[in-house]
Amino acid sequence: MHLLLVILFFLEAQFCVQSSDSSSPAGENLATNGLPFPWSKVRLPSYIVPVHYHLLIHPNLTTLRFNGSVKIEIDVKNNTNWVVLHSKNLKIFTATVLDEHEAHLSDKVLSVLEYPSHEQIAIFSPKILTSGEKYFLYLEFGAPLSDGFYGFYKSTYKTKAGETRVLASTHFEPTSARMALPCFDEPIFKANYTVRIRRGPSHIALSNMPLEQTVEIGNGLFEDQFEVSVRMSSYLLAFIVCDLRSVSGMTATGINITIYAVPEKWHQTHYALEAALRLLEFYEQYFNILYPLPKLDLIAIPDFQAGAMENWGLTTYRETSLLYDPDISSASDKLWVTMVIGHELAHQWFGNLVTMEWWNDIWLNEGFARYMEFVSLEAVYPELKVEDHFLDTCFGAIGRDSLNSSRPISSLAENPAQIEEMFDTVSYDKGACILHMLRNFLTNEGFQSGIIRYLRRFKYSNARNEDLWDSLIKYRFAGEHIDLKKMMYTWTLQKGIPLITVKRQGRKLYIGQERFLKIVLPDDPSCYLWHIPLTYKTSHSDYEMKHILTTKSDVLTLDEEVDWVKLNSDMNGYYIVHYDEEGWNALTELLRINHTALSFKDRASLIHNAFQLVTAGRLSLNRALDLIGYLKSETHNVPLLQGLGYLQSFYKMIEKRNIIFRDFLSGSISYFRDVIDKQSWSDDGMVSDRRLREEVLSLACDFDYPPCLEKAKHLYNSWVESNGAISLPTDVSETVYMVGAQDDSGWAYLLEKYGVSMCETEKSKFLSALASSKDSEKLSRLLQLGINGTLIKTQNLPSLIYLVAKNPVGHFLAWDFVKKHWDELVEKFPLGSFGIRNIIVGTVTQFSSTEELREVEDFFKSITEQVSELRVIQVATENVEKNIMWLSRNLETMRTWLQQRLN
Ligand code: BES
Ligand code: ZN
Repeated sequence: MHLLLVILFFLEAQFCVQSSDSSSPAGENLATNGLPFPWSKVRLPSYIVPVHYHLLIHPNLTTLRFNGSVKIEIDVKNNTNWVVLHSKNLKIFTATVLDEHEAHLSDKVLSVLEYPSHEQIAIFSPKILTSGEKYFLYLEFGAPLSDGFYGFYKSTYKTKAGETRVLASTHFEPTSARMALPCFDEPIFKANYTVRIRRGPSHIALSNMPLEQTVEIGNGLFEDQFEVSVRMSSYLLAFIVCDLRSVSGMTATGINITIYAVPEKWHQTHYALEAALRLLEFYEQYFNILYPLPKLDLIAIPDFQAGAMENWGLTTYRETSLLYDPDISSASDKLWVTMVIGHELAHQWFGNLVTMEWWNDIWLNEGFARYMEFVSLEAVYPELKVEDHFLDTCFGAIGRDSLNSSRPISSLAENPAQIEEMFDTVSYDKGACILHMLRNFLTNEGFQSGIIRYLRRFKYSNARNEDLWDSLIKYRFAGEHIDLKKMMYTWTLQKGIPLITVKRQGRKLYIGQERFLKIVLPDDPSCYLWHIPLTYKTSHSDYEMKHILTTKSDVLTLDEEVDWVKLNSDMNGYYIVHYDEEGWNALTELLRINHTALSFKDRASLIHNAFQLVTAGRLSLNRALDLIGYLKSETHNVPLLQGLGYLQSFYKMIEKRNIIFRDFLSGSISYFRDVIDKQSWSDDGMVSDRRLREEVLSLACDFDYPPCLEKAKHLYNSWVESNGAISLPTDVSETVYMVGAQDDSGWAYLLEKYGVSMCETEKSKFLSALASSKDSEKLSRLLQLGINGTLIKTQNLPSLIYLVAKNPVGHFLAWDFVKKHWDELVEKFPLGSFGIRNIIVGTVTQFSSTEELREVEDFFKSITEQVSELRVIQVATENVEKNIMWLSRNLETMRTWLQQRLN
């Protein structure tokens, strides 16, 4: 192995949490009945391979239990008496092993050993199962429908008439298929599935494949049998029994697409149908591989923890991720729905057709799907201007990756909590950003043909990180052969983001690379090195120059003397750039006199780089603030929102520390007054204008800008007077509600509306308005409603806690609530899940003092047994350290700068 890789591996092993229970010495593992359990590892043995599952499942929506049976055809690779597979919280009634003619191998009832800490069971066959033979494993089982959001779980909704209806739905990724059926629940074990579902006459049943036939089986029950599936991993299996209503359409290639929603939200399904039809057609062309199933369903489930899930042929969504009401939902809501559909449909190829071998490479699913959201929307919906958001994706990744608590894109994950934690900004966003860098380097055509080759080569099978790089074309650059695998390993096997330093002397550019860290480590092992495709523009060249940096430092010679150089064109590369004194001066001056000489992406990335460098203590806040001085004449939403976003986050930090800083507010407003005053309170214009308006007006009201408050209050009053009958402009409605929520009657009215609204995007706007109240009793009441789970569904609790925490008044309240209800919270949102991580990061990263840091550390210590293996704890605490440092460095500068501006 290359020396670098050895070093990287060593680093990763040092930094990452090792699983404590991946394997324990034989003999120590006792099953629940006290007998030795025959397998000691978290991962299943590889000598028994499932080939075909025949599943029968019957959920009873009255008793809220389900029973099932599964016959699994297995291939035996080594002689053995034991079959070890996954099962979690299931009661196993019978277990038998059958030979290839389906005759019983033994007359006895087979004993089943359970080993709950590894979520495994083992079945003992008195007769040896011989290698090369085929057998069937037959099991009967049952359990209550799960109460949370994983496995086979219960979901409910209320009709307008007040009736509560129940449905049962599945969510398996990553490790919950084992909660619904005993199975070999690892992505490598691909098999075919034949599913049968029993249901009552007023319900329908859905699964991955189309319905083949329905049989009436007596007692008022029906049994739906579905076509046999393609070969797929267990986490992609899905089944649902419900009474939802649908709309359907067909793609040009004959795929039947159906959107489902609860009956009273049926009219909100039409946009999703159009989007799914167009996006599926796009992907079939882009990947040059037809979607292999005859149908694809998209279904909005009333209780759903994640945003959406890509089950093959039966994708599931949160209502806000699928339903769109043209009268009520905003421009951003529409963009969100389109992106989520673009994401889940991309998975039908990336993830479903080709699956990562193990969860350490989940970025092959999620990084690609995130990136394809942008590629597909840009092609199919150019008017949505999705490219405006791509930089935010990379900025988000950098936020995490510039702290030492980050991790490599491919990293070790063994137990379920560690696997859950892999679904993070590193897999999704950093994954997407390095793919973007690669695509720019290879050209669009080179990238596309490479991934087509990869998909063809590994279809219906599994792949690793290196398989992707091996599938890409042999690339030549400046006459030299580039080792793409070596290059990409520097991005996927080591954590962190490079900082490129540039010093210009005459025509010479002295370039260096180092690891960018916001908190500099005293003993940072400086062996970090990337292969970086550099690009740059100068005052004298319209086209971009390219260079690959593979060493710590290098010298480039420009063709001629120039006034300025900007590296990382359009921020297509995943790195931060720091210029010398003259370099920053020249760019600041350029922005001031002629900002359109740079693209909007270049402008936004300069602002971003400057403030990152401020946090790291490499650039003074004054310099960064001077750089954004030009924003008075900026008209593009991306750099504007970038600059405004920084000012808002400073304000929040200051406000929380009770520093009454009116100067800051008026200072910031005076900066942006022109942009704010220009906004109309309407839904007019292109999507980018509408998004800008939404954000700018919300910020202006947040900063208490009087004309904004007056207008919002006026709109709010007319809305209340009409008893909600007049429709507010959708893009400003949230701001209007926020202003309305500030007095008692407004708050009460919004809470009442929250209870009766039939539109989830509207409800989420009500909720964020309610959570912006400055009255801590109201905030407590909201949190209480959240944990109670009736008026405010449990699925919305993590975002509610976050909303309260980010409100300066609710900041400690949210933290105290999390501490007090910790046990209940982990029961609802398992360790490692999106939910619990959002709760931790959402509350903790609001802190910015040493006392608060100690408080947080003490709490985590008190629950150390549960959380010691979670990365999110380090991420959260390191963020607080960063905030503390930022304030101690910059508070004074901020004050002086504002005073100077205002005088
Ligand atoms: N495969 C995931 C769903 C998932 C997330 C499963 C976490 C297990 C753990 C799905 O494709 C996904 O990424 N969903 C996103 C929404 C999407 C638009 C990015 C989510 O749930 O946030
Ligand atoms: Zn995904």
